[in-house]
Amino acid sequence: MIGRLNHVAIAVRDLKSATALYRDTLGAKVSEPLPQPAHGVTVVFIELPNTKIELLEPLGEGSPIGKFLERNADGGMHHICYEVDDILAARDKLKAGGARVLGDGEPKIGAHGKPVLFLHPKDFNGTLIELEQV
Ligand code: CO
Repeated sequence: MIGRLNHVAIAVRDLKSATALYRDTLGAKVSEPLPQPAHGVTVVFIELPNTKIELLEPLGEGSPIGKFLERNADGGMHHICYEVDDILAARDKLKAGGARVLGDGEPKIGAHGKPVLFLHPKDFNGTLIELEQV
């Protein structure tokens, strides 16, 4: 069902210094910061040859990564995103197998303009999983 690793998302407190770390210390190609108010984050995309890294900084009140950063003061890996061909078929199969889909279970348009869903970390080895239809 799952295909390529689309991205790994890392929650950070300070997007400027995290971006500098990837650009200057690790020598990666980084994007300009992109505020995404609908998602409560500002994102920097890091292009790697085989996948992407997304640095997420909280934006506004009630950011979905606010609590995560309260628990993880240094930041940390927030979720991984796998590509699927058919997000509704994937959702239905996972739900039939007992996995929990977050929110109302309907795909939302994600940071890349494509439909996404999130799966409960307790059902997947403590890892928040995003599925993106490509
Ligand atoms: Co993501």
